[in-house]
Amino acid sequence: MSKPLRVGMIGYGFMGKAHSNAYVKVPYFYDLKHRPVLAALCARNKEKAETFAKNWGYESIETDWRKLIERKDIDLIDIGSPNNTHKEIALAAAKAGKMIVCEKPLAMTTAEAEEMTDAVEKAGVPNMVWFNYRRVPAISLAHQVVEEGRIGKPFHYRATYLQDWTIADDVPQGGATLWRLDADVAGSGVTGDLLAHSIDTAMWLNGPITDVTAATETFVKERVHQETGKKQPVTIDDACMFLAKFANGSIGTFESTRYARGRKNFNTFELNGANGSVHFNLEDPQYLDFFEYKAPGAAEKSPDHLTGWRRIHVTNFEHPYMDHWWVPGCTVGYEHTFINALADFIKGIETGKPTQPDFRNALQTQRVCDAVLASGKDGQWKKTGVSL
Ligand SMILES: NC(=O)c1ccc[n+]([C@@H]2O[C@H](COP(=O)([O-])OP(=O)(O)OC[C@H]3O[C@@H](n4cnc5c(N)ncnc54)[C@H](O)[C@@H]3O)[C@@H](O)[C@H]2O)c1
Repeated sequence: MSKPLRVGMIGYGFMGKAHSNAYVKVPYFYDLKHRPVLAALCARNKEKAETFAKNWGYESIETDWRKLIERKDIDLIDIGSPNNTHKEIALAAAKAGKMIVCEKPLAMTTAEAEEMTDAVEKAGVPNMVWFNYRRVPAISLAHQVVEEGRIGKPFHYRATYLQDWTIADDVPQGGATLWRLDADVAGSGVTGDLLAHSIDTAMWLNGPITDVTAATETFVKERVHQETGKKQPVTIDDACMFLAKFANGSIGTFESTRYARGRKNFNTFELNGANGSVHFNLEDPQYLDFFEYKAPGAAEKSPDHLTGWRRIHVTNFEHPYMDHWWVPGCTVGYEHTFINALADFIKGIETGKPTQPDFRNALQTQRVCDAVLASGKDGQWKKTGVSL
């Protein structure tokens, strides 16, 4: 008999759907001792919350997250609301002894993320941050390849995260739909929203980032704010580029923008080492590109005319997560990254081996984001203070 894991989900937007879908599907694809129960959906608009709850099968709704946290029948609080709400909700949930899974970026600032990390550790509650891209099978395979020592001494890390949806200067900012363009709600622009993902992946694959120097730009200086109806200064970074030094001696470049015409979710990385390289692009998510150098005289050396990049279709049973899905050659997609992450979190509760990234791990990403934003202001190199 599986044990119920009673979920209180906060937010019914993009992530509210992605997470609800994961709670529904995870028991069908993973053999776990806990089975999520959609106990309550929380959002401020009662009617919309009711519609969402009915559609997804939530047992009840709350319109105030404080009420949700007070409830004794909730085991897990899932924070799927905008960034400026994460801290207060997480602190209250930790105090109430709830497990917490929180969307990224963990917080608005490093100071907030430190407070949240202290709170969950003091309360001893299981916690995770939804850096779901770690659970793309091809990205997990890249991690495995690095762990197996196939890249050798790393020299270069190169990441991009490009989109194109804010180019028009009549796109408004703020309010329920465009809070991402309002730094009071989002904390920052592409740095916290997109580069946080790239930084999490980079440090997972290539270790701590110790130093950064950045350039940020806000291309459209004023936009109509949806709450006031008035033109107001745009306070987010529309684009950010930074150079990074890693603790292992390698160096990196990171670039993110929402002004790259034609790019939708162009999240890529390449890691080059002495013995090999890996390359990935989220717009082509089934593939990991791998180059393996064989030194002259190596036993398994390929003939020189056959040496080249290998395109691995990451759908075999032996690839990360793929033994839970379809037969080889049949692909999985975006939604599966959340299901895989949730399965790992639940396994973590069951084995007592906390799943990564937890709050402490995500705090390190926040440190890099803050150092990047600070450098974007004065152009100086900054120490990140990351400790992994
Ligand atoms: N892991 C990822 O890839 C990924 C992708 C998108 C968003 N996110 C993160 O998820 C979070 C939510 O983003 P989204 O795209 O789902 O946003 P969204 O605007 O689609 O949804 C936000 C939801 O939060 C609700 N909400 C806002 N304030 C609230 C409050 N005080 N109490 C209760 N509910 C409240 C809104 O009603 C809405 O349902 C953000 O932190 C964002 O950065 C992560």
